[in-house]
Amino acid sequence: MVYNKLLKEKGAIRLTFLPFAVPHITQAEIDEVVDTLRSGWLTTGPKTKRFEREFAERIGAPYGLAVNSATAAMHLALDAIGLQAGDEVIVPVYTFTATAEVVIYFRARPVFVDVDPVTCNLDPARLEERITDRTRAIMVVHIAGLPAEMDAIQSIAKSHNLPVIEDAAHAFPAQYRGRMIGTIGDLTAFSFYATKTLSTGEGGMLTTANPVYAERAAIMALHGISHDAWKRYSAGGSWYYEVLQAGYKYNMTDIAAAIGLHQLARSDCLLERRREIAQRYTEAFSRWSELETPPNPAHVEHAWHLYMLRLRPEQLTITRDEFIQALTKANIGSSVHFIPLHLHPFYRDTYRLVAEDFPAALHAYRRAVSLPLYPGMTDEDVEDVIAAVEQIIGVHKI
Ligand SMILES: Cc1ncc(COP(=O)(O)O)c(C=O)c1O
Repeated sequence: MVYNKLLKEKGAIRLTFLPFAVPHITQAEIDEVVDTLRSGWLTTGPKTKRFEREFAERIGAPYGLAVNSATAAMHLALDAIGLQAGDEVIVPVYTFTATAEVVIYFRARPVFVDVDPVTCNLDPARLEERITDRTRAIMVVHIAGLPAEMDAIQSIAKSHNLPVIEDAAHAFPAQYRGRMIGTIGDLTAFSFYATKTLSTGEGGMLTTANPVYAERAAIMALHGISHDAWKRYSAGGSWYYEVLQAGYKYNMTDIAAAIGLHQLARSDCLLERRREIAQRYTEAFSRWSELETPPNPAHVEHAWHLYMLRLRPEQLTITRDEFIQALTKANIGSSVHFIPLHLHPFYRDTYRLVAEDFPAALHAYRRAVSLPLYPGMTDEDVEDVIAAVEQIIGVHKI
């Protein structure tokens, strides 16, 4: 402790551990959850319906369907477009496993594409060569909250008559050339997982402008039945329902929606604080040639879910893993986004992939470290992160 204090005085170490991510929960969320618990209606009901409506309005999407994860939303999206066994779906390799695993639910095949070396998003220049006569959809991921190059992707998709499904797990609220993410592709999946920019603990939303997709997804999200429980058990509802399909159990609870309503109402402020922290990091780290700061091009509004810093190991005497160990010792939490899917045993062995198949993803992964970035961080927390990074880089630069 005395040692820690001395180091702290020298600006080198925090006294307490700074977690990598913490959800931003206020009294408003707590009161709304309590109100839900007291209301007698815990599962999908009036608060979920309101959350769907307000979220869709915020995005400007004609339809929003609240579900229990982004994974569920992506599964429903692929179901809505009629994906079949043996089909292929294009998936950027630099993502979380959820983006690809939903394809496998259908016994279809994820066909991986390498990413742009700067943005880590699907590289449109590499997209067309992966399209075959079995391709049925293109999945796009907006890594860290930075929108992918949608114009180029959409134009390739159109020329092959393929739907675009966006994994926007990181991208609320984000914009591409003035358009909100959630209104560009055919279907978009958002995540409200505990670490995300809008959190309901677990949760997700599917948005679309297509009424046929919206109706199919709503039915499949609740066992394939014709009427949800709210319609059956509320005043004026009917006990009768019909099973139209063998569906899933993906509905959001009103307890989760209660949290979401207030996170949504604060989403502009939450983004503003994230943006401020990201700007402060970039201002500090762009002074170091050993560090590569995340891109933030003028034609997008970044959601700043993650601050993905990249090291230039050729200018350092430590590896990325050693850098993370040093950060942990300095009481700063961090993470790595992402281990490209082709490096994981399942994808590597199932599709016979080797590390060098996707060089841009491999190179980005080996240098990546995500720093704490959440609205509840104080200015002092932010400066502690900067001090720790600068101290490590200062000691280990060549
Ligand atoms: C890129 C990406 N897609 C999808 C998901 C899955 O989201 P959920 O946990 O809501 O299913 C995640 C979760 O971290 C993610 O990072």
